[in-house]
Amino acid sequence: MTQDEMKKAVGWAALKYVMPGTLVGVGTGSTASYFIDALGSIKHKIEGVLSSSHTSTAKLKNLGISVFDTNEIDSLDIYVDGADEINDYMQMIKGGGAALTREKVLAAISHKFICIVDITKKVNILGKRPVPVEVIPMARSYVARELVKLGGTPKYRQNVITDNGNVILDVYHLMITDAVALENQVNQIAGVVTVGLFANRCADVALVCTKNGVKEVIL
Ligand code: A5P
Repeated sequence: MTQDEMKKAVGWAALKYVMPGTLVGVGTGSTASYFIDALGSIKHKIEGVLSSSHTSTAKLKNLGISVFDTNEIDSLDIYVDGADEINDYMQMIKGGGAALTREKVLAAISHKFICIVDITKKVNILGKRPVPVEVIPMARSYVARELVKLGGTPKYRQNVITDNGNVILDVYHLMITDAVALENQVNQIAGVVTVGLFANRCADVALVCTKNGVKEVIL
C-alpha cells in the first residue's frame, strides 16, 4: 500500500465509530478528506457534522452533508481527524493544515477523539516534525522570540492565513519530553491563539494503517 492508500483505508475504517442519528466532528487534511468521502456514503444515516475548517466544510456541503454551527452544539459523540505525529500516549502534533484551533475546539467538546493516521505518523517522541502555533499577526515577532527562549526555532509559514485571520509559526527543534507542560507553556504566551500540541486532550482511539491493514489502539 502507498501512503495515500493507507490514508484512504484508515479514513474509511473510522466509519464504524459513526452511530446512526448522531452529529459527527470532522477534521481537516488529506486523511480527514477520505473520512469525509466515507461519511458521504452514509449521509442519510447521520444528523450532520461540525467542521474544523472552511476546506472541510466546502467538501462536506458539496456531498450534501449538513454542517451545523459549533455555537449551537454542546457536545459531540465523536471527533475524527488526522495528525502530523502521534506517540504511544496518544498525544499528537496537529496543524499541518493550519486548522489547529478549530480542531482543538471540536476535540474539546467531543466524548471520543478518533485519530486516523498512516504508520508514517507514529513516533516514539513527538517533535521530529515542527509544532505549528497559531498567532495573532501583530504578536508574531514577540511570540517568535519567546519560542526561541523555549529552545525552538520558529519559522513563519509564508502566505498562510488561518480561517480565523491569524498566522502560523512552525516551531522546529523543540525537545518534547513533557508534552502537557509544553502545551501549557506555549499557550501562556501573549498573542498565541493555540499551539498544535494535543496533549491535554489527547486521542482516545488511534486507527493506524500499516501495509498490513488498519490496527485499532485504545487508550
Ligand atoms: C490539519 O490542520 C492537521 O491537524 C491535520 O490533521 C494534519 O496535518 C494531518 O494531515 P494529513 O492527514 O493531510 O497528513
